[in-house]
Amino acid sequence: MPNPSNVQIAPAEGKLGVLIPGMGAVTTTFIAGLEAMKRGLGKPIGSLTQLGTIRLGKRTEGRSPFIRDFVPLARPEDLVVGCWDIFEDNAYEAAVKAGVLEMPLLEQVKEPLSAVRPMKAVFDRTFVKRLDGPNVKSARTKRDAAEMLIDDIRQFRERTGVQRTIMIWCGSTEVYHEAAPVHASLKDFECGLQKNDPEISPSQMYAYAALKSGVPYANGAPHMTTDSPALLELARTMNLPVAGKDYKSGQTFMKTLIAPGLKSRLLGLSGWFSTNILGNRDGEVLDEPGSFRSKEVSKSSALEYILQKDLYPDLYRDFYHKVRIEYYPPRGDAKEGWDNIDIFGWLGYPMQIKINFLCRDSILAAPLVLDIVLFMDLAQRAGMRGVQEWLSFYFKAPMHAPEVYPEHDIFIQLMKLKNTLRWMRGEELITHLGLEYYD
Ligand SMILES: NC(=O)c1ccc[n+]([C@@H]2O[C@H](COP(=O)([O-])OP(=O)(O)OC[C@H]3O[C@@H](n4cnc5c(N)ncnc54)[C@H](O)[C@@H]3O)[C@@H](O)[C@H]2O)c1
Repeated sequence: MPNPSNVQIAPAEGKLGVLIPGMGAVTTTFIAGLEAMKRGLGKPIGSLTQLGTIRLGKRTEGRSPFIRDFVPLARPEDLVVGCWDIFEDNAYEAAVKAGVLEMPLLEQVKEPLSAVRPMKAVFDRTFVKRLDGPNVKSARTKRDAAEMLIDDIRQFRERTGVQRTIMIWCGSTEVYHEAAPVHASLKDFECGLQKNDPEISPSQMYAYAALKSGVPYANGAPHMTTDSPALLELARTMNLPVAGKDYKSGQTFMKTLIAPGLKSRLLGLSGWFSTNILGNRDGEVLDEPGSFRSKEVSKSSALEYILQKDLYPDLYRDFYHKVRIEYYPPRGDAKEGWDNIDIFGWLGYPMQIKINFLCRDSILAAPLVLDIVLFMDLAQRAGMRGVQEWLSFYFKAPMHAPEVYPEHDIFIQLMKLKNTLRWMRGEELITHLGLEYYD
């Protein structure tokens, strides 16, 4: 029986604006990818919205449409991107400096990339200590800075004629901060903007400006932004979805593939050491202890939640988990990660697994940006507001309701995402029971 959901989804008409604070490696790889696809120069490999299918009904029915045909999504060619950055380089120059994509491809998309020029950023060096740049707004108060961003959003909409807009953070990782009294309520936060409260970060000003302007906000970095009572209150009041945080693209992606498998076979874990070398600007920012702390916290929690040591004390009570990131410029964006996993089996006999992942950070992250943008737009048109836990699939530290723990297991995350899509369309949820074939 189909599930009678009353979800009304407005059609994906017109252009979709994508506003991105931070125009570095991930953003330029994303934009160049959109332009390359338009010209038939590449395929959206890694994107669930573009290549993924969804099974509907029973296996015997043979119904597995593409996700993009099943739910009304904006098309990649309908996206119009606008960015902010502290550097003045246009997207072509920034892509060349990021060094992710090769020059012959970049030359073919030079014209549209050169047309993307960053708006002046709201920036505060106390939150990103390793960077400084000239393309920065000067504002007397944080409220003034937020108002300037609201004005940027208004002008972007007028200039481009987009019907709807999503904001997604691809800026640097900010220094680790926890929620402070200024984040307790929207009233406190607005008061703090006026009083230049030092606990309000630039990313929070962008998110505030977005939500105030009716724009959903997603956070691709690990720092705290919309995960505070103040900004969640604003999202709920404005009926807007929010999602985050920290793209699950490389080593943590691997971790959330392997750990559920070990647990499914009840194999024990005594230690997991992860390290990687990374030489891009993100690596440089993460070389600073405050920003690294944000990343470390985000990367550390996945294993603890997946392995549930309280439920499986014999297997996971005492495992040692260490995460390192080493800034090593020669590697640029071509990160190399090593995982040493000490496991044990029957009668406690030890074994080891080694993973050596030679990846490309932004090549892995760009399709996630596309999917998150398209699904956030879908969520908005479906009237879904607040934390979009069904998008946990994309994040290292998924936002979640206070009464539940975050779901990190990538297979459960994918099932949850697809069941949410089925629910939106009034299709039966899939339980994988299938007893009827053996009656
Ligand atoms: N690439 C991945 O696989 C991956 C995975 C998870 C998270 N992330 C996160 O995504 C973000 C982007 O990664 P990247 O590799 O593109 O980094 P990057 O350093 O190449 O780009 C970040 C850009 O943000 C700009 N910036 C910093 N503060 C800003 C501000 N307040 N306003 C506007 N611009 C600002 C910087 O000048 C820089 O150009 C980082 O926070 C990173 O940790 C990336």
